Parts: sequence; C-alpha cells; structure tokens
Amino acid sequence: MKKNRLLISPSILSADFSRLADEIQEVEKAGCDMIHVDVMDGHFVPNLTIGPPVVKAIRKVTKIPLDVHLMIDEPIKYVEDFSKAGADIITFHVEATDKVAETIEAIKKAGKRAGLSVKPNTGTEAIEPYLPDLDLVLVMTVEPGFGGQSFMPGMMEKLKYLKTRFSKFLSVDGGINAETASTAIEAGANVLVAGTAIFAEKDRSRAIQILRGAG
Ligand code: DX5
Ligand code: ZN
Repeated sequence: MKKNRLLISPSILSADFSRLADEIQEVEKAGCDMIHVDVMDGHFVPNLTIGPPVVKAIRKVTKIPLDVHLMIDEPIKYVEDFSKAGADIITFHVEATDKVAETIEAIKKAGKRAGLSVKPNTGTEAIEPYLPDLDLVLVMTVEPGFGGQSFMPGMMEKLKYLKTRFSKFLSVDGGINAETASTAIEAGANVLVAGTAIFAEKDRSRAIQILRGAG
C-alpha cells in the first residue's frame, strides 16, 4: 500500500452476503486497494454484523489488505481474535473505550496497523494525542451503524485540520459517491470507503474508476 495514492476500500456491508467470495473477488479484480469490513455489536451502534469467523473466511479468498472497522464497545477484548482472523488494519472508535492507548498498543503488538475513528459529534481533539502512534485515522461522515446514509459535509473541517497534522492514511467513511468523493479528497482524504456506491452498481470497475476520477 502506497500512502500517496488515493486508495479505495469497498465496504462489504452493501455486498450480497450469499455470494461474498465472488463479490470480494470482483472488487479486487476491479482494482480496489483494500476490503473494508464493518463489525458492529448492537451496543456501540444499533446494528449487528459479523465477527472474526467471517473475517477468517474472507482472508482465504483475497490477498489484498483487510481494513477492519470495529464499531464495538471495549475493542481491546477482540484485537487478538481479529488479528488471528487475518485483519491487516484494525480501526476502533475513540468513543468506545477508555483504553485508547492500550488498544493501539495491542494492535501494534499483534503486528497490525492501528486506526482510530471519530463519530460525527466527536471533535478531532479527542484523537489528537494519539496521532503519532496511528497508521490510519477514520473520519465518519455518517452516524455509524448503517450503509446507504447521506454524507455530512460538515465533517470536512475535521479532515482539513487532520491533513495538517497527520500524513498517513486519512480515511473517510459514509455516503461516499461520485460527487462527495471530490469534496472529501479536496479536504484531505486519501482513503475512500464506499459501500453503496460500489456494490449497488453492476459494473464495479466503472464504479471504482469513477471514485478514483474524483481525485
Ligand atoms: C457505516 C459503515 C460504513 C458503511 C458505508 O457505519 O461504517 O462503512 O458501510 O456505506 P455507504 O458507502 O453506503 O455509506
Ligand atoms: Zn465502516
């Protein structure tokens, strides 16, 4: 993964789970850079998705990096499981735990890249102290929990600020499509997470090209 190029990370939340392997291989062939896996626990967010066994199954069908987005309480408890399952980047929410530094350390000890995410109502000051230790920052542009929501342009101020402080993966997640992608890139994002804009389209190569073209 090069950090200067725009990276596309399709969120499988909008994929057809009955043919998940095919869906993943299709977006891989279509030129995506990572696979974004949304993990929800029904506590931190009002929705339930998948856990380590599914990550393990995905790991078997693709070689590209797995970008695991934990929307769960007390993420430190699950770092080992997701690491063993084959995650490459483990991102958790600053709002989900009091043990932020310990969780980052646990992810790194497991040999993985560490990411930290902020919900729309959380300011960048909450993650600022941890920036030197992080590989990825994820700015949510919707309330986490569901795919297919509308992009919140007000979050661009956070990206602009973070761009001046953080030079690794600056990722944006929620409501990214052909139009909002340009806004996010202009504000400083270099990783675009997109579910609906990729998996709701028949032609995944074209969908990915359109997002890349936004840069
Ligand atoms: C939302 C998830 C997102 C979501 C994005 O809680 O973190 O990754 O799947 O879906 P779209 O691109 O449809 O907004
Ligand atoms: Zn996500």
